[in-house]
Amino acid sequence: MKKLIVNGAEQLYGEVSAGGAKNAAVAIIPATVLARGRCVLENVPDIHDTELLFSMLRAMGATVEKLSRTSAMIDTSTLTESTVPYELSKHMRASYYFIGSLLGRFGQACVSMPGGCNFGVRPIDQHIKGFELLGAEIRIENGLIYADTEGLQGAHIYFDQVSVGATINVMLAAVKASGMTVLENVAKEPHIVDLANFLNSMGADIRGAGTDVIKIRGVDVLHGTDYSIIPDQIEAGTYMAAAAAVGGDVLVKNVIPKHLEPITAKLREAGATITEGDDWVRVVRTGALRRINLKTMPHPGFPTDMQPQMAAMLTCAEGTSIITEGVWDNRFRYTEQLVRMGARITVDGKVAVIEGVKGLQGAPVKACDLRGGAAVIIAGLMAKGTTEIEDTLHIERGYENVVEKFACIGADLHYITLPDQPLSEQA
Ligand code: EPU
Repeated sequence: MKKLIVNGAEQLYGEVSAGGAKNAAVAIIPATVLARGRCVLENVPDIHDTELLFSMLRAMGATVEKLSRTSAMIDTSTLTESTVPYELSKHMRASYYFIGSLLGRFGQACVSMPGGCNFGVRPIDQHIKGFELLGAEIRIENGLIYADTEGLQGAHIYFDQVSVGATINVMLAAVKASGMTVLENVAKEPHIVDLANFLNSMGADIRGAGTDVIKIRGVDVLHGTDYSIIPDQIEAGTYMAAAAAVGGDVLVKNVIPKHLEPITAKLREAGATITEGDDWVRVVRTGALRRINLKTMPHPGFPTDMQPQMAAMLTCAEGTSIITEGVWDNRFRYTEQLVRMGARITVDGKVAVIEGVKGLQGAPVKACDLRGGAAVIIAGLMAKGTTEIEDTLHIERGYENVVEKFACIGADLHYITLPDQPLSEQA
């Protein structure tokens, strides 16, 4: 068993670079299926999720060559399969983006029902509604989603719920549908815009990404392209929150400050001083941490994927903070881990009340999910003593080189590997 060991820090000082955006990359990699020709992707985050998507592409017959740690050439012209192997796709929610891209390419797709982080029920009804309105037939059997079409036709689709995943999936299918598709009440996250820019660089005709309405005129052929993925706003925000939580002076490079605005605003409210340049932000905190209230919402609201990291920071703020989760039904499971470290948090449904304490203590904890994992790292840095984190795969799914990157800002993290406990000794 592998554990991530985090030693409490006095202050954080140094410079760290954000990698490519996970949630853009996990859409753009499946989108390469639509290209006739080679795509070269730069600024690909070096994380477990992107490696898994590359394995899925290879298993379906594509050529994927890593050109460097963060760039890859993908040639899907040799793709023969419209089925994503279950053993690979079941591990990853974003593998369902192959439904949209395989429908566009082959008119059929078979992908596992999505798993992913456990935040309560995660329906895909809006994806299905969009595919059906474009003229696809969807069946769910034995844990697999089958999609088939005689030919996709442009349609007017109104999403009943703002959904990142449904917006992306239906865009992927619509780029090759005949005629015009209008998507209303879509998600506006930076990775939606990045996917549209990527598809347009392949010859697609998409307008309006980043607003509430996206218009897509279908094209017959998409060609290969060279594309650099946007920086990861959540990874950058995680280092910013760590700096504000522990105190010190941290420069986060390779960012788009505009994408960080909600995070910057709330960290300032909590007592951090933040300055911005063209592609960097600097977070300094020397004074006290102040309580704040926070509500997560779809973009441009405060991102739900930064909610756990902010909660970790607020455990030691002066006063009582209230966090309201506005996207997911159940995204506070990780708070139990913070309580083990001495935090005072009560959760009632979608609201967490955090009463600031004088300090946290290191403890054995778990990474419940990706951002819950980031929260316990931040709490571990704030705590006295050593924190041992189990289930680190959740963290590795979405954060590249956490040990090395946190070391750049003076944090002491390292992995240990322990022999697996025999079943008889497990409680
Ligand atoms: N929803 C529906 N029906 C649908 C789809 C979604 O009711 O068909 C609901 C969900 O239950 C949820 C809300 O709509 O209440 C928003 O879900 P959305 O579809 O936007 O989320 P997602 O696409 O499954 C992506 C990110 C998540 C991030 C959310 C919200 C990826 C791979 N995942 O998930 O990222 O929390 O958008 O911004 O892009 C993470 O990176 O840690 C992460 C979990």
